Parts: sequence; C-alpha cells; structure tokens
Amino acid sequence: MGYPLVIVLCVGLLQQTAQAVRMDKLADNKTCGDAECSYVLSMATVLDDFSAPDCRFISLRKGQTVYVYSKLTPEEGGGVFWSGSVYSTRYVDQMGIIGYFPATMVRETQKFMEDTVKIPTTDTDFYCD
Ligand SMILES: *[C@@H]1O[C@H](CO)[C@@H](O)[C@H](O)[C@H]1NC(C)=O
Repeated sequence: MGYPLVIVLCVGLLQQTAQAVRMDKLADNKTCGDAECSYVLSMATVLDDFSAPDCRFISLRKGQTVYVYSKLTPEEGGGVFWSGSVYSTRYVDQMGIIGYFPATMVRETQKFMEDTVKIPTTDTDFYCD
C-alpha cells in the first residue's frame, strides 16, 4: 500500500521540472523577418504527418496549414528545421503553439517577407514550455 501515491507524486514532479527544461540547440543561426522573429515569413502546406520527437517540435498533420516564423540555418550533416505554428480553425487550442518541424515536411505556398535577417539562436529558442 502507499506505492501508487508515491508514483503519482513522482510523475507530477517530473512533469513540473520538464516544463522549463533547456534542450540542445538545433542550430546556431536562424533567418527571421525581424530580430524578434515576430513576423510570419510564409505560409506552408503540410505534405505528410510529422510526429514531434520531443518538446522542441510540433506535430503536423498532412493538409494542415502552418505559419513559418523562422528558418534555422542548417548545420553540417544536420536536417533543415523551421519553426512555426499550425493554423487551424478546428483545433483552436493548438493555435499559437510554436515549435520546430523538418522543412521537408511542408511546401511554402505564400511568402510574406522578402527582407530577412540572419541572427544567432539563443538557448531560449529551444526551451520547452
Ligand atoms: C552563425 O553565424 C555566425 C555569424 O554570422 C558565424 O560566424 C557562424 O559560423 C555561423 N554558424 C553556423 C553554424 O552557420
């Protein structure tokens, strides 16, 4: 007796500490519309389902529309990752959640920003919250 409660408490603690965990950077530099990456660079259509491997990423479903906020500069031997959020009228709770996804999973349909800035990424770009 008593074990189930202990387990529940431990899981609760793990979930709390996981909320502000700092993850490895996916890249050192990124391209954005401005220094704060507050502008949408482009809109894109999801080509295939993508399941987020960890909390830095967002999951995508084929056919969804995403707003692209930044494009990480590919590291040698690494993948190409962009950040963005899913546009959806049906899943309102998903809107505004920004995360990374492989650029190969989407096709840009509309570009909004022609002038972009290249800036270094910071640790906070890869915080999980
Ligand atoms: C990131 O940008 C800095 C400054 O432009 C540059 O020195 C560095 O080599 C870049 N790193 C990568 C991995 O592209």
